[in-house]
Amino acid sequence: MSTMDHARRTRSLRARLTGLIAGCIFGVLALMATYQYFALADQLRARARQDLLATVAALRTELNGVTTKQQIGADPRRWYDATHGHQNLDFAVLDANGTTLIASRGYLAPATSLSHVAHQRVPRENDVQKVRNASLGVRLRYIAADGLVGGRGERVTIVVQLDPREQLSVLSGFALTAIVALTIGTLIVGAMTYWLVTIGLRPLRTLTRAAEQVSSERLGAPLTDDDTPAELKDLSHAFNRMLARLNDSFTRLSQFSSDLAHDFRTPISNMMGEAQVALTRERTAAEYKAILISNIEECERLSHMISSMLFLARAESAHTELRKEATALEAIAVSLAEDMAPMAEEAGVAIEVVGQATAAVDGVLARRALANVLVNAIRHSRPGSVVSMRCASSPEWTEVGIRNVGDVIAPEHLPRIFDRLYRVDPSRHTGGDSRVGGAGLGLAIVKSIMALHAGTVSASSDAVAGTTFVLRFPTGMPPGPAGNSRC
Ligand SMILES: Nc1ncnc2c1ncn2[C@@H]1O[C@H](COP(=O)(O)OP(=O)(O)OP(=O)(O)O)[C@@H](O)[C@H]1O
Ligand SMILES: [Mg+2]
Repeated sequence: MSTMDHARRTRSLRARLTGLIAGCIFGVLALMATYQYFALADQLRARARQDLLATVAALRTELNGVTTKQQIGADPRRWYDATHGHQNLDFAVLDANGTTLIASRGYLAPATSLSHVAHQRVPRENDVQKVRNASLGVRLRYIAADGLVGGRGERVTIVVQLDPREQLSVLSGFALTAIVALTIGTLIVGAMTYWLVTIGLRPLRTLTRAAEQVSSERLGAPLTDDDTPAELKDLSHAFNRMLARLNDSFTRLSQFSSDLAHDFRTPISNMMGEAQVALTRERTAAEYKAILISNIEECERLSHMISSMLFLARAESAHTELRKEATALEAIAVSLAEDMAPMAEEAGVAIEVVGQATAAVDGVLARRALANVLVNAIRHSRPGSVVSMRCASSPEWTEVGIRNVGDVIAPEHLPRIFDRLYRVDPSRHTGGDSRVGGAGLGLAIVKSIMALHAGTVSASSDAVAGTTFVLRFPTGMPPGPAGNSRC
């Protein structure tokens, strides 16, 4: 991973956290500001209505103090005082014909006719009416309440008008302040979050830097987690476990490739050596023939190794497809025994097949696995002994046990004989004894064939009971009388 990638990823996490937290704070503040805005609007509206009602009451009191409607316009100051100095309140008193008896300066007659509150009733908040004034561009609030001159004389109408513009400008001022406060508040919270997240992510960056130092040479060195916070300890431990697994595979792969190079070099050096010695002087045709035969043997060994390696590589790739079908394993065993009869005869051993077992397996691969184990058994048998192939099955599994008596595999070698290129006695390979010599790949192939079938292979060896390899396949077939034989 490049430093730029690393920086971009850290930035993105920081930006994401900052965005999320700033967004949440913005949402909460916006909700609070909206709530306050509506609460303020409600309060202003209630206050304005109360002012309207109080003014109507004050004007009605004034009306009680006069005896004729002509007196109404006579002393305007007393009437103006009724508005309690409210700039946004105006009024007019009209007679029954609609003629204005007195009107304050800001009074604007409504464009539509108003419904009147009867003189004997006290006006309430819902008597307030809104009428749009085209020239001001707002809806003015009105209350029209009837009253009697001197309390029992001629009926007149008191109209009180409220201009809501001041109220609206208080509200828009509040909204503007709230938006500015909201923006500044969110920016401050965003900056603080960014800074805090930067500090909070420091251990992650330390861990990343440590991970960047890991190379194939330092796979074995785990990351130290002394300063790692508790939340990242699990990640650091998982990383160390992964490193340990990688280190193990890497070491085995390196070991394998050096063993492989060594094993390839041996037959090639043999061929070169023989050819060079042959060329030091003139040879007879029979000698050349012997050298060629020996070279062919080495080539066969190389070819066997290469095809085994290829087989292993293919078998271990994830795409290997098995052609599974119900197969009688004892039939494969019998056919192998026939094919290997000459080899067995040469080694002085007999092969016997006992029992029956049928499983859903890839016939070609199963044959190859059995053949590899059988060849080993013949190679390592004591002359005059019997190699037995015993088939058995249950509804869940089907197995073939191949047993021979002869060379014993020491307990320390048993767990390793399935590793690639592992031979118990490698000197026997180079010692020129082609009967015993092998590449050390046969059992690795058996193991991978068994893994492909989700089966297992196990080995046991001692001088008395002999050496037994058990290949166990999942039966993979519907249970029935044929699938439950044990022989
Ligand atoms: N039946 C057996 N008795 C004694 N030793 C055995 C037996 N089968 C396997 N081994 C030991 O296990 C080792 C690994 O076997 P494997 O089949 O993988 O390799 P190989 O036979 O040496 O070579 P290849 O099979 O590739 O030709 C052998 O070298 C041999 O020492
Ligand atoms: Mg072998």
